[in-house]
Amino acid sequence: MSIYTFIHADHEKAKELMHKIEQLGTESVEERNSLFETLKKELILHAKSEEMAFYDPLKDFKSTKEDVEHGEEEHQDIEMLLDQLSDIQLEHTQWRKKFPELRELVEHHMREEESEIFQTPEK
Ligand SMILES: [Fe+2]
Ligand SMILES: [Fe+2]
Repeated sequence: MSIYTFIHADHEKAKELMHKIEQLGTESVEERNSLFETLKKELILHAKSEEMAFYDPLKDFKSTKEDVEHGEEEHQDIEMLLDQLSDIQLEHTQWRKKFPELRELVEHHMREEESEIFQTPEK
């Protein structure tokens, strides 16, 4: 399995988790909380590993530098949204209103990574 397949699998896993969280109703506070904690840990770990393994080396190339810097900014925005969500009570309607903002940003970011940054010369 190539490292890109691994990244893609990680992206799919996060998307699935976000979808599950959104499907849960206001009353499923405990389950939402546990899925959200998992999502948070995984997204942060994923971003850190990506930065170390790919972003840093890709910064040295003119053709990828800009995309990588943009990707890093999005990692920061994702982390900020995760923090904001952590500060809101899960039973609060505001939480469920804000969550799609995170999902949309993460999905947009992953789409860009897969189409621009991690476009691989796979045979
Ligand atoms: Fe990323
Ligand atoms: Fe990623």
